[in-house]
Amino acid sequence: MAASTMKLTLFLLPLFFTFSLIISSHHPLDPLTPSEFKKVRTIVKKSYPSGFKHNLTFQYIGLDEPDKPDLQSWLSSKTKSNPPPRQAFVIARLHKETHELVVDLSNRYIISDKVYGGNDGYPMLTNDEQTAASALPFSYQPFIDSVKKRELNLSEVVCTTFTVGWFGEKHSRRAIKILCFYKEGTANVYMRPLEGVSLLVDLDEMKIVEYYDRSRLPMPKAEGTEYRLSKQKPPFGPPLNGFVIEQPNGPGFKIDGHKISWANWDFHLGFDVRAGPIISLASIYDLEKATYRQVLYRAFVSELFVPYMDPTEEWYYKTFFDAGEFGFGQLAMPLEPLTDCPANAEFLDAYYAGEDGTPVKISNALCIFEQQSGSVMWRHTESAIPGELITEVRPELSLIVRMVATVGNYDYILDWEFKPSGSIKIGV
Ligand SMILES: *[C@@H]1O[C@H](CO)[C@@H](O)[C@H](O)[C@H]1NC(C)=O
Ligand SMILES: *[C@@H]1O[C@H](CO)[C@@H](O)[C@H](O)[C@H]1NC(C)=O
Repeated sequence: MAASTMKLTLFLLPLFFTFSLIISSHHPLDPLTPSEFKKVRTIVKKSYPSGFKHNLTFQYIGLDEPDKPDLQSWLSSKTKSNPPPRQAFVIARLHKETHELVVDLSNRYIISDKVYGGNDGYPMLTNDEQTAASALPFSYQPFIDSVKKRELNLSEVVCTTFTVGWFGEKHSRRAIKILCFYKEGTANVYMRPLEGVSLLVDLDEMKIVEYYDRSRLPMPKAEGTEYRLSKQKPPFGPPLNGFVIEQPNGPGFKIDGHKISWANWDFHLGFDVRAGPIISLASIYDLEKATYRQVLYRAFVSELFVPYMDPTEEWYYKTFFDAGEFGFGQLAMPLEPLTDCPANAEFLDAYYAGEDGTPVKISNALCIFEQQSGSVMWRHTESAIPGELITEVRPELSLIVRMVATVGNYDYILDWEFKPSGSIKIGV
């Protein structure tokens, strides 16, 4: 009996260690994992099963962060044994209503479900519904006729989505405008609009509800609109020949799950489908107190507003919320090694949930690297002391966390730059 118990214990021990390792490596601020997205989907779908006419769509799924006091007290506890409950925040759309759900992932149930109708609470757009809406004009006869009337080739037309803005309407539908462009002879499609033609799509019905062909302006020429150096003659190449960035001993920063430490900095790097990168608990080492001091609890780009301020029919509504309507995170581009980020960069993948709730992976969504600008952060030479020449120079080094979100024809390069001097610089 004793022997078999012993065997059992020995057998269970590695299992136990693996298990506790998995638990302890999970920081309460870590973004939802692919399996957690699937769990959320399963839990919500059980309450809202697939319908014949309408299915619930997931407009947003993200971590429902623990409240700051709860997290702070967990952080200051010695054992870190009872992490705050793991919860997801979900915004879903069903029957022209928006549901705000909080889902408990450990006990697998919906904690709360708030419902909003009408103008209250139109959620973020999903990539999927925009793709579906952009395809509608191609089977819509009045649009096909407009293209014909302009003597254009329908196969060379591309359409894309534009949010409608809000101008104080009491009642409106959840809708999106569609504008179309001509790609014949150029990749620079925004230079060749089918100006005067616009469509309005009801996203809940996923059908065209308004159509305008107001005017016929000449189509700008494709010549001279190319922006790719590689397509121009003579070939221009970036002058990177022979330029080497080397860190023979490896990077000076450490990535442990989502925790990053470098020089005198320590912070958590999260990812959200709407905001993109989220920096939390940024702490700097205090030499006098010989301990880390938290200087920033949580930071992210909360919004990027792009109002065009042109009163004409096809332009007045262009008042884009590029983060809140289109989602910086879901529009994060896979970063190209050596061009988007230097040779010494490390890359992190990111995940978000698509409209049906299943996880979508963005490879190389974030990169982290040390940068030496060539500038001097601090220096002094003391030559007033006879017989001594004291020189100290501290080069300007920084740690960069980068993500690129492409919203329509805008590429936003988001840089979070940490400096040993204690400053955090945000560049867009
Ligand atoms: C709803 O979901 C079911 C099962 O996933 C699918 O077969 C059906 O086509 C969907 N209905 C709509 C209207 O999208
Ligand atoms: C229209 O465009 C398609 C795709 O680019 C091309 O194959 C076709 O020849 C074009 N038709 C005309 C009439 O130019």
